[in-house]
Amino acid sequence: MSLLSWIDERYPLTKVWNEHLAKYYAPKNFNFWYFFGSLAMLVLVNQILTGVWLAMSYKPDANLAFGSVEYIMRDVNWGWLIRYMHSTGASAFFIVIYLHMFRGLIYGSYRQPRELLWIIGVIIYILMMATAFMGYLLPWGQMSFWGAQVIVNLFTAVPVIGEDLGVWIRGDYVISDVTLNRFFALHFLLPFLLAAVVFIHIVALHKVGSNNPDGIEIKKGPKGNKWSDTAPADGIPFHPYYSVKDIVGVVGFLFLFALVLFYAPEMGGFFLEYPNFEPANPMKTPEHIAPVWYFTPFYAILRAVPSIAGSAFPGVLAMGASIVLFFFLPWLDRSPVKSIRYKGIIFKAWIAIFVICFFILGYLGVQPSTPGKTLLAQICTILYFAFFLLMPIYSKMDKTKPVPERVTK
Ligand code: HEM
Repeated sequence: MSLLSWIDERYPLTKVWNEHLAKYYAPKNFNFWYFFGSLAMLVLVNQILTGVWLAMSYKPDANLAFGSVEYIMRDVNWGWLIRYMHSTGASAFFIVIYLHMFRGLIYGSYRQPRELLWIIGVIIYILMMATAFMGYLLPWGQMSFWGAQVIVNLFTAVPVIGEDLGVWIRGDYVISDVTLNRFFALHFLLPFLLAAVVFIHIVALHKVGSNNPDGIEIKKGPKGNKWSDTAPADGIPFHPYYSVKDIVGVVGFLFLFALVLFYAPEMGGFFLEYPNFEPANPMKTPEHIAPVWYFTPFYAILRAVPSIAGSAFPGVLAMGASIVLFFFLPWLDRSPVKSIRYKGIIFKAWIAIFVICFFILGYLGVQPSTPGKTLLAQICTILYFAFFLLMPIYSKMDKTKPVPERVTK
């Protein structure tokens, strides 16, 4: 008896391999937008591995944390590389995920029957934000400290329970050693939770099958191809076709990743902010506090909404809503077609407006506010919300094109 059959009698190894890879039939018309799911997995693995290695030399103590990161950069063998892989990896993770989400947006991958797959995705996104936020406190630099101060203070704007909530999150009345310790514990834990939710994401994907750039359900089309009589005619085995294609994406990604890693790891202050090279000083507020780029669109929304009676709660609500709205996308889009290829000019225009506003808000979020910039942020915030809230109307009004019977090349 071969080793494989010995294992198969005790564990469904061949069955899983076939069902999820060798005999998993994915639409044959994937384009480069379909690289980003596998790239997200690669970056998650990179974050976990480099993170565990960093944790071997890092000290979660307010008196030692900053110095331990300097020690990693200067004295630990290859420490600088591991640290930059982790810090550049965090930004790469968000770039990859934003592109992955954008793909879902343009091809209508959130629509029936993939609503739950999308919802799990949004949960992943929120978990990623929480993980990145807690990780950013760990180097205990000026921006770590003051960024955390600003964000945790937002929770204190919640009526009635706000103050207690702030103390509960910090474990103290101010951001302190206690906060650093617990953020370290959670920052270590969350990526493993993320990995578990990614597993659930893939299970959901394999239940319903992948969408594709035409937004056509291949499972509903004709059956039978050269590999199987029962498989969708427009499906090809994931392995070797897409496993090999994904390697092309990995090579392209690693090339760009290495360029940033070796030549511009700080990325002009966008990936590692300059004030964070100064140790945290609770007695000295930096002139301008800005979160890392991947949070700035939401930060700009927060600042755009005026306070009421001195309370920042309306801004906090708007910021929360701007993320929560993603959950409802499957039910907001009423278009008869899924993919942007067959949608009309109105939907395309709204996607363009949404993306432009997201970029402008992202830019404004790193800038000190001026009356002009606040007005621009307010206009973009209104358009951002209009994209979601008016979707049930404009997606119905839009003049769509006829969808072909079978996927196009
Ligand atoms: C750690 C983060 C994530 C990982 C590792 C991941 C992984 C994957 C993989 C491997 C696929 C299949 C390949 C592909 O279609 O690109 C996929 C598909 C998908 N993901 Fe994710 N994902 C992540 C986050 C998200 C997020 C944040 C969303 C949305 C908010 C999302 C929504 C989707 C959707 C809708 C599909 C199906 C797309 C289609 O069939 O057209 N994912 N994901």
